[in-house]
Amino acid sequence: MCGIVGYLGSKEAYPILINGLKRLEYRGYDSAGLAIHNGSEIKQYKRKGKVARMEEIAANSPHEGTLGIAHTRWATHGEPNDVNSHPHTSMSGRFHIIHNGIIENFASIKEALKSRGFTFQSDTDTEVLINLIEDIYTEGAKSLSKAVKAALNQVSGAYAIAVIDSEDPNTMVVAKMGSPLVVGISDNEYFVASDATPFLEYTKRAIYLEDGQMATLRRGENIHLYNVISDEPVEPYIHQLTLDIASIEKGGYEHFMLKEIYEQPQSIHDSLRGRLLAEEGKIIMRGVSEYKAKFMNAERIIIVGCGTSWHAGLVAEYVFEELARIPVEVEYASEFRYRNPIITEKDVVIAISQSGETADTLAAIKLAKSKGATIFGVCNIVGSSIARESHAGAFTHAGPEIGVASTKAFTAQVAVLTLMALKIGQERGNIPKTQYLKYLHALSQIPGQVERVLKCNDENLIAIAEEYASALNFLYLGRGVNFPVALEGALKLKEISYIHAEGYPAAEMKHGPIALIDENMPVVIIAQQNANYEKVVSNAQEVKARKGKIIAIINPGDTDMRHLADHCIEVEETDELFSPLLTTIPLQLLSYHIAVILGRNVDQPRNLAKSVTVE
Ligand code: G6P
Repeated sequence: MCGIVGYLGSKEAYPILINGLKRLEYRGYDSAGLAIHNGSEIKQYKRKGKVARMEEIAANSPHEGTLGIAHTRWATHGEPNDVNSHPHTSMSGRFHIIHNGIIENFASIKEALKSRGFTFQSDTDTEVLINLIEDIYTEGAKSLSKAVKAALNQVSGAYAIAVIDSEDPNTMVVAKMGSPLVVGISDNEYFVASDATPFLEYTKRAIYLEDGQMATLRRGENIHLYNVISDEPVEPYIHQLTLDIASIEKGGYEHFMLKEIYEQPQSIHDSLRGRLLAEEGKIIMRGVSEYKAKFMNAERIIIVGCGTSWHAGLVAEYVFEELARIPVEVEYASEFRYRNPIITEKDVVIAISQSGETADTLAAIKLAKSKGATIFGVCNIVGSSIARESHAGAFTHAGPEIGVASTKAFTAQVAVLTLMALKIGQERGNIPKTQYLKYLHALSQIPGQVERVLKCNDENLIAIAEEYASALNFLYLGRGVNFPVALEGALKLKEISYIHAEGYPAAEMKHGPIALIDENMPVVIIAQQNANYEKVVSNAQEVKARKGKIIAIINPGDTDMRHLADHCIEVEETDELFSPLLTTIPLQLLSYHIAVILGRNVDQPRNLAKSVTVE
């Protein structure tokens, strides 16, 4: 994880680095640090905690200079403290590095360096790498680039690094393997970052490094991009970024999470736009059409993802099996990749990832690809590693999601996957024409319905949040396609309020969780007017009989659940298959309010990070 930022140009680096770090804090916030070259020496500041804490010391100390690197950390090797914070410095103090990733063979390299007289301040793998670079440099490498390249040829693992030299105020060397790294280019200046958000106000021209590439950035010279192993030069491909600054700012909301919850009518609309042509009775998805034969003949669809994206995959399992009639398996990417899965050329693997950088998901698709499967990416970030590694895909056009707890990315994923299932189902001849048109119409109504469901963010919902904010446990129950919604509701609460919560298929409650129910247990039940409704009501009766407190997500006009439940939140009806797009919304809001009441850091919950680029 971790976020890296670098600058080389004619402006003062400090404000660019600090603002950049703040935009990348979603990637980790255990510690922050920066190193700036003032023309004659490098000043370095680092501190445990958020960027704002590090800024307290850096802002009042000398920080002039036009070359600098900065880092926000999500701890892997070594506890989060000042010493383990980046940047790390080589033993002589000459070379400085920031690193996102893990050097897997650091222990053996460290031992070898120790035997050559190196000593270490921190417990990190990164300090080992910078000392390896120093060792190679002093042994006769003619330049920093050569020393970095030689060092990288000795390490295994993942990295996005930027290295600077106290004796050279005009050069930065960057490299990528496994972790993201993008170089922004403007007139005589370079920006380096884990994603493009730190430099959006300065340039829209960006080069996304590929794995195994490194670049030497020199003041006044063109970028020199080349391959770490072969040393062959690579012609840089310059992307034109379309993101704008407004989309990555809070826009008047107290938290990014709330803003992103409220953006869902638009983000779902954007994910459907140009694809769902309800009036014409058509779905256009280029990636699906290009690989039509694969989908037509698929014997199985395997969906891989992590966290919230895995929940979107579980929703998709119901929708695909119902509409496309293809067997679906949904796998945690981390489990899938390590259990020698049986994969054939007839499998289509759908990888779901907001960031497109999750290490386990990326490794899972590489494995499936090596066994001949077709890989279809459903990612939010254009240019991300998973998007690039996939044969084809469909982007979720949710826009940047900054809050660590995923909200609008989830609904956008569900919307895109639903469209895919409809298109494939129709092309496989599984959906009668009139029913197909009904589905398209119902799906086209979803953005407007989400807009109206958001009105449930009222005194009733806040009163529920207040009443249960002190609960120690929550249970979330749902059936069918709303079972994954229960899982997602519980995950949202855990992530941002730190209250223990479990999601369960409602009928499974009696096989365990029912033992937990007493008058202190809030039970959130998703009860929609569909085939499962009566059964869910029975499950609610079982909760009530044990004095559990019921918070029910119901449809307008429902009387049975209204009678049973202690609290109700209404969402409009839609086709059962599309209901997760609506029932998720009040659960997001409930978690949000509980976290706010408890004084939690909603956008940056403890121990979590948005983009998990380590296993
Ligand atoms: C982290 C985030 C989650 C996210 C998961 C998968 O755990 O905190 O919100 O669902 O990673 O991330 P991805 O980017 O692959 O969707």
